Amino acid sequence: MSGGFVIAVDGPAASGKGTIAVGLGAHYRLPVLDTGLLYRAVGVLMQGRGQDPDDAGLAGATAARLTAEQLQDPALRTRAAGELASRVAVHASVRDALLAFQRGFAGQAGGAVLDGRDIGTVIAPDAAAKLFVTATPPVRARRRWSQLAAQGEAVTYDDVLADIRTRDARDGGRDEAPMRRADDAVLLDTSEMTIEQAADAARRIVEAARARWNTSS
Ligand code: C5P
Repeated sequence: MSGGFVIAVDGPAASGKGTIAVGLGAHYRLPVLDTGLLYRAVGVLMQGRGQDPDDAGLAGATAARLTAEQLQDPALRTRAAGELASRVAVHASVRDALLAFQRGFAGQAGGAVLDGRDIGTVIAPDAAAKLFVTATPPVRARRRWSQLAAQGEAVTYDDVLADIRTRDARDGGRDEAPMRRADDAVLLDTSEMTIEQAADAARRIVEAARARWNTSS
């Protein structure tokens, strides 16, 4: 086997995959890419220019010119940015334009952790470890609501739950890169877990994958 140890962490919005990815990156000393930020940046940049995020051509052009610095903007973490992201993410032009950047990150010699929706299926189908992190919509809504409230956003739990259901429908109802679990991804349902328990469970899954990877590489 060639390349570094790649960990793919996929799952729906607010499933805990971002926290799990960061924890795995720290544990294995691997760089982490939150791929949702790429889609969020495209949406936020377009909105800032008064462009329509549903315009596939303009969205693709924005994605093609995205720079790493543009991913640092705190505005990408807002609820509105998540909504814009899921609108631009339906365009094949956007997904294609973001492919090379994500594959480049995954292809680093030392390995990497990427979290998103299609890491295990499209971006890094040969990843040594694949997790599909999920939780029920009410649990995810509760977590996202707490996060947004801590950021100072005035939003109700019901609105966040409605957002999550809309995003699930939009993310799952796509022909291109459907938000499906890779056949070889391990399902991690964090609905009944604390974040520490979820992080431990994720590490156990990755340890098993690493043992297999060590013997085959
Ligand atoms: O994970 P996050 O909430 O930041 O993702 C925002 C949106 O970006 C998702 O709802 C999804 O539509 C899109 N996305 C995607 N593929 C990825 C990461 C995010 O389509 N790999």
